[in-house]
Amino acid sequence: MEQFHFACPCEVYFGQNCIAKHSHVFQRFGQKAYIITSRFPDKKNLALEDVETALKKEHVLYAVNEEVQLNPSVESLIKIARQVSKFQPDLLISIGGGSAIDTAKCVNILLRYPNLDAYDVLFGKGPHIFGVGAPDDGALPLINVPTTAGTGADMTGISVITRNDIQSKSGTNRRSFGSYSFVDSRYIKGSPTELNHATAVDALCHGIESYLSRHSRDDFMTNMIAETAFQLFGEFKEHLLSNTMTAEDYDKQALHSLLQGMVIINECTGVAHGLGYPLSYYYHVPHGLACGIFEGEYVKIYKDQKRVKRIMDAIGFNTVDEFCSYIQKILAPHIHISVTSSQIEEWTQSFCKTQWRLDRHPYPLTEDMVRDIYYRSLSVFITDASSSTKTSV
Ligand SMILES: [Fe+2]
Repeated sequence: MEQFHFACPCEVYFGQNCIAKHSHVFQRFGQKAYIITSRFPDKKNLALEDVETALKKEHVLYAVNEEVQLNPSVESLIKIARQVSKFQPDLLISIGGGSAIDTAKCVNILLRYPNLDAYDVLFGKGPHIFGVGAPDDGALPLINVPTTAGTGADMTGISVITRNDIQSKSGTNRRSFGSYSFVDSRYIKGSPTELNHATAVDALCHGIESYLSRHSRDDFMTNMIAETAFQLFGEFKEHLLSNTMTAEDYDKQALHSLLQGMVIINECTGVAHGLGYPLSYYYHVPHGLACGIFEGEYVKIYKDQKRVKRIMDAIGFNTVDEFCSYIQKILAPHIHISVTSSQIEEWTQSFCKTQWRLDRHPYPLTEDMVRDIYYRSLSVFITDASSSTKTSV
């Protein structure tokens, strides 16, 4: 049997009301906690209420910062890190989706390196230079409480941050892991449909891209976890599409996201994620939808279709076309953009410069192939008449 390495440094409490049942965890690290979260304009922040109740019960002093920026920029992280420093907490708590959790993870790194340039600290040595299994670079213990089910941010060490210096988003190179994650599906119930669709598709993309990545074939643990997660997705996929999710479905969605989060700690995201970043940066297309647009065409060009079939079987699709049709139905109501062939050319060039992403694909991935995935995936959004002639494969 091949050797493998598996990392999952974060302890997990899963299930409804898990914070109330295990509030003692919140007093393990000291007497002062700093909560980093977002404002929830359309619904109450039930997770924040649960955390505050637990902290009061355990006699832990706390402050709440609700200034998390959607798709957080480095500048927003610096601002929050300064506020955290003034409070001098013993513990950080993040509550929210990927933006809140990624903000807390990065703030935790910046607290360790207060006198260095933030861009340098987070990205200076190139993407993922510290690799899988790199140590936790967070300064304080961190408890994550995800309120969406898709990003996997509560499990992973890297954060995806908006970089105004390169006009795109990219992953941080230092790892910052949570000590605990409390996963309660009550927090995702009642999320806006677009958000829930985007996060569910994001988690699915994490699994698919990891399962098809260069080193995944012999990675026994992540294969096993991803395959179990694909089956879970298959069990709630129709209810997700028809917006008829039950409490049990939300539990499965939360577990699916958690498992695919464990997978990307070890295998990282791949081609479709890289292709999707310009749509999020320039058009604010939610991250999961931006990746999902490209997943079908990417899966189609993947050479080892037997491996692709294992994914389709686990999710419950008879063919890749059936999978593509499902993803299109999920995405269609939420994406309204117009793109040009010159933009596609620019994004193709830019993607092909990210060598580490090309290397995630186990076979040669040429510029023409990348361009073709862009054209085929975005065909309904392209406004130039000549665009249909630009496909090259
Ligand atoms: Fe993602």
